[in-house]
Amino acid sequence: MLPREENDLLTQVAAEKPLGQLMRHYWIPALLSDEIPEPDCPPVRVRLLGEDLVAFRDTKGCIGLLAEHCAHRGTSLFFGRNEECGLRCIYHGWKYDTEGRVLETPAEPADSTLKDKVRHTAYPCKEAAGIVWSYLGPKDKTPLVPNYEWMRLPRENLYVTKSIQECSWLQGLEGECDSSHLSFLHKNFTGERARGGGDGVLYAADSAPRLEGIEMDYGLRMLSCRRIDAKTVYLRVSSIVLPCHGFIPTGGLKGNPEGYTIHSHVPIDDTHSMRYNIHFRRTRSIEDDERQHEDEIGADFRKLRNLANNYLQDRERQNRENFTGMGAIFLVHDSCATESMGPIYDRSQEHLGVSDMTVIAVRRFLLRAIRAVQNGQEPPHVIRTDAQNDLRHVACIATKIPAEVDPQRYVTEQLKKEKYWETNL
Ligand code: FES
Ligand SMILES: [Fe+2]
Repeated sequence: MLPREENDLLTQVAAEKPLGQLMRHYWIPALLSDEIPEPDCPPVRVRLLGEDLVAFRDTKGCIGLLAEHCAHRGTSLFFGRNEECGLRCIYHGWKYDTEGRVLETPAEPADSTLKDKVRHTAYPCKEAAGIVWSYLGPKDKTPLVPNYEWMRLPRENLYVTKSIQECSWLQGLEGECDSSHLSFLHKNFTGERARGGGDGVLYAADSAPRLEGIEMDYGLRMLSCRRIDAKTVYLRVSSIVLPCHGFIPTGGLKGNPEGYTIHSHVPIDDTHSMRYNIHFRRTRSIEDDERQHEDEIGADFRKLRNLANNYLQDRERQNRENFTGMGAIFLVHDSCATESMGPIYDRSQEHLGVSDMTVIAVRRFLLRAIRAVQNGQEPPHVIRTDAQNDLRHVACIATKIPAEVDPQRYVTEQLKKEKYWETNL
């Protein structure tokens, strides 16, 4: 269990809160590139770390992420006109560029200098992996954009979706730390390999995996070992990467071994988060039949199966098909497990066991990072140099190993080889 004040520390994301300050040390996903697909297209609303913002792509293709409410008298810039390299408020025509400069105040006298005295809140943006990343911290502390291997892939090698989660970001992230739930929540009874899922037979073979959490410079490396038979262990190595990402060796879409999955749990505010699901192929494009979420997420990024409709649970199918009776998509299962805890779960009420040791380890790591920020230090994984941006050790492995092999040593040996992100399953 977690004392209430630590629960607050880990869930409150406003700028003046310690976690809010930690989050503002990193580039985080703000929206999908496809939401603003072309120059001068309509702007979109973005709520991020409790801040109401508007994103737009200007005439030259540059992206702006501005505070939603006009600096003049507060009308929402979401309704603005995106024209000639700027976003113009519809109330009195103030016009902003992507960096928050006020370009025009046409209702003022021609000799007015008011526009030069106002600077609107604007956050820098970079596009990579089909995502617009933004940094909400102080400008003079802007770090490098992290260089994960999938950040450099062509767009067609990536399949990226996002969906609103009606709960704190931490509930989503903790789901990434907990390998034991694979043996239950995602279990199916038909023997079919679920789309996007790993191998259910291996998950079922041992429902009480041995877990290890190893602190790394980027967050936590997590090992789970399932005893498959007398000679074989099923090893899964995943990573929690600061500030809010889980790197998961799903075995890839449809079991294809080439690539892994990233789940980012970006806080919208204290009680909502945006889960980005990022799939990639290193050497080829994603095929149409490898896309798995289109039917599950509406145009407003709300899941069609959601808390309000009990995830369309079918009790008969729960008996016959799978553990949840909520279809085959893991996103839905995970969402039910985490959203049904309530908007912010009161962790002083929980009863943790051995199967939660990596959850505990991640909380400890996050609390230490928060305390570092409170003490004026830089937290882990803020990337300032090219050397720090060599991230090949963020390992993601799922494989069978001989029972006598030490799993930690196995991972170390694997990482010495060139195939750092190998998924062997
Ligand atoms: S409120 Fe935006 S220009 Fe007046
Ligand atoms: Fe899951």
